[in-house]
Amino acid sequence: MKMIAADYTYINGEYKKEFAVAFDDKIVAVAPFREIIERYPDADLIEQLHHSVLYPGLINTHVHLEFSTNKTTLKYGSFIPWLYSVIEDRNHLAETCTTERMEEACHAMLESGITAFGAISSMGLDLDACVTAPQRVVFFNELIGSNPQTVDALYSDFIQRYNSSAAYTQERVTPAIAIHSPYSVHPIVLKKAVAFAKEKKSLLSAHFLESEAERQWLDHSEGAFRSFFESFFNQSKAVTTIEEYLSQFDGYPTHFTHCVQAKKKELKKIAEEKHTIAHCPRSNRLLGCGKLDIGKLEALDIPFSLATDGLSSNHSLNLFDELRAALMMHYEMNLHQLSRQLIRSVTSEAAKILKLDCGYIAEGYEADFALIQLPEEPKEEGDIALWTILHTDKVAQLFIAGERYL
Ligand code: BEZ
Ligand code: FE2
Repeated sequence: MKMIAADYTYINGEYKKEFAVAFDDKIVAVAPFREIIERYPDADLIEQLHHSVLYPGLINTHVHLEFSTNKTTLKYGSFIPWLYSVIEDRNHLAETCTTERMEEACHAMLESGITAFGAISSMGLDLDACVTAPQRVVFFNELIGSNPQTVDALYSDFIQRYNSSAAYTQERVTPAIAIHSPYSVHPIVLKKAVAFAKEKKSLLSAHFLESEAERQWLDHSEGAFRSFFESFFNQSKAVTTIEEYLSQFDGYPTHFTHCVQAKKKELKKIAEEKHTIAHCPRSNRLLGCGKLDIGKLEALDIPFSLATDGLSSNHSLNLFDELRAALMMHYEMNLHQLSRQLIRSVTSEAAKILKLDCGYIAEGYEADFALIQLPEEPKEEGDIALWTILHTDKVAQLFIAGERYL
């Protein structure tokens, strides 16, 4: 048995002073420090740090590891030029993105307190890195293909990738399914993939309404996507509508990424169907997609997680960088409430979304912890969420399933 103690422990959205946690691979007990010492006198006490705050490990629900080598290659600023640059540099980026580089990306996430993540895998090249990563990984095998002539081959490749990842279920890797987007997946194979997800009881994720161009294309088969589809796919009409796409997920709660361009009608449908949203504010900013109105999600009771997206549309996979960006970008919201909401979005909310038994410091949950150190004693306990976001870059200690990694 081990025991970890901190000045403050994040329990159910509150910061409890001088608590301790007894754990093996799972959390055995959470109580005031004195009580835990008395109940578990032989437990190994992890070294204590000043001004420490113990959190459940952070969870990044949406990341693409296969593009981890991008730094100054892809074109940022506007979605369609970015997409052209992805197509142009895709092979080069994939070739240079070795397992080692993806392992480094996983390690960078680890240093920022991430103990679980959802990896969107386009090609399956990230499977080895995800299997060797210490983190829990929900491995989202992604389906793409809007052209009826190639879609069957792409679908069978997707099933093969799914089956390869399913072989690793025992090793903290959970196979799952991702749909690339409404504009890039033909509705016939989308239906098959959703049926497959239901049969396998797999988690399902899908990019949705990321850019204005996407919305224009789906609504009117117009805008910047038009020449893109004409030149690459000889296609002048979108394969689906927003309504048709969204209805394909009815009755199967799905984790939708972005939704920046979603209108009230679509958000209401997302709420009714108990879907959730991955909010990637830095990616949205860098690709010129706008900003998700998280106030609207709150009003409709739509759960959301804050996520980094990949290094193809971001400059780091550090969730504290993302938290700081979100805090600054949503400047119209109350600073303290937003800080607390954002912390929930990368802990308990993200865990519920990925159906993982972590994200809480409570008896019976996985012993996944991220211990951070504030630069000095917080004057107000109510401000700890804010100080955590502002002052943390790397965590001081990190545990997954009770094992110490940092
Ligand atoms: C497609 O397969 O239709 C597609 C792929 C990438 C971007 C857009 C569309
Ligand atoms: Fe993404």
